[in-house]
Amino acid sequence: MKFVFVLAIFIVCAAAVTILKVKNTRQCKSNGGVCKQTCAVDEEDIGQCCRNSNRCCQTSTCIDTLQYAQCKAKNGDIKPVCDANEQDTGIGPFCNTHRCCEPPTCIAKVDCNCKHFNDCPIGNTEYEDITGNCSGSDECCKPCCLTCGGIFKGPVGSFTSPNYPSKYCIDQHCYYNITVAEGLKVILKFTYFHLEAGISTSGLPYDFVQIYDGEVKAEALLDTLYGGPTEGKEFNSTSNKMIIHFVTDDRDHFPGFSVSYKTLQ
Ligand SMILES: *[C@@H]1O[C@H](CO)[C@@H](O)[C@H](O)[C@H]1NC(C)=O
Ligand SMILES: *[C@@H]1O[C@H](CO)[C@@H](O)[C@H](O)[C@H]1NC(C)=O
Ligand SMILES: *[C@@H]1O[C@H](CO)[C@@H](O)[C@H](O)[C@H]1NC(C)=O
Repeated sequence: MKFVFVLAIFIVCAAAVTILKVKNTRQCKSNGGVCKQTCAVDEEDIGQCCRNSNRCCQTSTCIDTLQYAQCKAKNGDIKPVCDANEQDTGIGPFCNTHRCCEPPTCIAKVDCNCKHFNDCPIGNTEYEDITGNCSGSDECCKPCCLTCGGIFKGPVGSFTSPNYPSKYCIDQHCYYNITVAEGLKVILKFTYFHLEAGISTSGLPYDFVQIYDGEVKAEALLDTLYGGPTEGKEFNSTSNKMIIHFVTDDRDHFPGFSVSYKTLQ
């Protein structure tokens, strides 16, 4: 009996939810909208629809030309939510709820070279910057530019670790993906390299750079570099792709690396 009762309630609820979903979807359609996960920048978000995660997006009746221009001038990107390393420019909402997000910039006046709390005598909540102040906040320890890595498609190119030649930041996981024209090979040269020395209990160095020939898989690993300083180390791919993986742990900073590459027939 109890079971039947619970089942009945369940069916009623399920039916109600379905009816609501259908109703929302219909309503969206009748308003000239389309249900999508997120509305495009030039569409108007007119509310929930179909599923909770979906929105009803209508062709915009409002015009954001000025805001678009302002956002563009700031080199901004219009999206529902700014990434952690981006700054909300304050421009928005647009026709939908999107915001204008500024690309990450190195934060001025923030010391990005500060030490981890273990180097600070006072305890786990303290951080020390290079002037020797324990700040009690990890603000100064945040990477200047969380963004790292990139895609390189040109026949020649160069890049560095974030913040180079100042010290790199903690907890970095960056991929530098080089893809050159089919049939060509990549010659990569570390014009400078200086990372933390030493290997952690995991068997991997504390901070390291791995160079892959073509794909990220064990067989394609050309080398794992750490320590230094060194310069001039060179790697040749056998394919038209090379992937450089840069990883740092949660403490100690070094200048990082600088790389240039070119192609070989
Ligand atoms: C913190 O550093 C500043 C320099 O940036 C210095 O003037 C100040 O005296 C330091 N404060 C302490 C408590 O050491
Ligand atoms: C670069 O390659 C890595 C490994 O294949 C991949 O995880 C990453 O998404 C790629 N980066 C970009 C921006 O495509
Ligand atoms: C890479 O190729 C170039 C050109 O063939 C060659 O001079 C260089 O020695 C090679 N480097 C390595 C590390 O194999």
